[in-house]
Amino acid sequence: MRQKSNYNSIGSSGSCETIGMAVPERQFSISVEKYRQLTWIACFFIAAIIVTGASVRVTGSGLGCPTWPKCSSDSFTPTDVQTGHALIEFGNRIFTGLLSLSVIGAVAGSIFRTPRSKTLIVLSLGLVLGVVAQIVLGGITVWLDLHPLSVGAHMLLSCFILSCAVILAVISKRKIVPQIRDLFRPSRHLLVMVLTYIVVVLGIVVTAAGPHAGDQRTKRLEVSVESVARIHSLSAWILLLTVIVLLLYFKDQSKSLKWLGGIIIYQGIWGYSQYIMGVPSWMVLGHVLLATLLFITATNYWLNAIMGRDNNLSVH
Ligand code: HEM
Repeated sequence: MRQKSNYNSIGSSGSCETIGMAVPERQFSISVEKYRQLTWIACFFIAAIIVTGASVRVTGSGLGCPTWPKCSSDSFTPTDVQTGHALIEFGNRIFTGLLSLSVIGAVAGSIFRTPRSKTLIVLSLGLVLGVVAQIVLGGITVWLDLHPLSVGAHMLLSCFILSCAVILAVISKRKIVPQIRDLFRPSRHLLVMVLTYIVVVLGIVVTAAGPHAGDQRTKRLEVSVESVARIHSLSAWILLLTVIVLLLYFKDQSKSLKWLGGIIIYQGIWGYSQYIMGVPSWMVLGHVLLATLLFITATNYWLNAIMGRDNNLSVH
């Protein structure tokens, strides 16, 4: 009897591999390893644009190019270079172009990867949709004069795109890739990811109320910065306690969990210091960089933990 597969490799090579038939060669294909490299390149650009985007905000360059897609009403490139704001905002827009190319590479790679996997194709299409939505949302944010909710949504969408890219990079190292629904089965590892998202969302709310609006004329969210910063730091404590419970009670000694614990502690110290020092721009930038690293580490931990833990998900 044919055994039911847990995996969803599709196309001639994928399904044949699962049931052990000969695999017809494709004219152009890329290896599992090459594909993984492409996905990490996309991760790099997405992570980097989160930090360059934050640099636009903290330097007050959000309206450095006051129109979109043009930088000013009559030019695609900056004409007013005196303050540097236009150059910073324009540089960020150029970086978006590089990011788009890396995403195209990840999508094309998922089609040509051997064996082909439906999960990777779906996730990489999610990446494209995310980037297109992000380009549109970026434009809307400029048109709305950097409304804090729009800036926050822009940051959150970047986190979703980064999630997609890191999931692609981590699971694509398997020749046969797990199905998306298997990845999202409730588990204590998934809880770490959910808590990470909660900390990040609350951080975005603090930013929306805080002083770094992206432009001096921009409105701020009308909530008390002190209160939301307290809730945000409390959520970071809950995340840290969860990691400690996993390490000590569940005896999870994986390297990625230890890294995660270390980065949370470092980020926490950084967060309190920046708050006490009145959120200087350079510290906020460091906070965003650390949050991005933490986000990648948490995703890496979650996926490696479930793929290694569950025999249904591990491929030897
Ligand atoms: C796991 C630990 C933490 C993570 C992952 C994290 C993440 C974040 C993120 C993603 C933002 C939004 C950045 C943006 O929208 O550009 C943020 C903002 C902020 N966080 Fe945290 N954070 C952590 C811990 C803390 C702690 C312990 C504090 C202490 C009070 C803190 C204070 C702040 C402040 C004041 C802001 C607003 C900065 C601004 O005005 O732009 N964070 N955080």
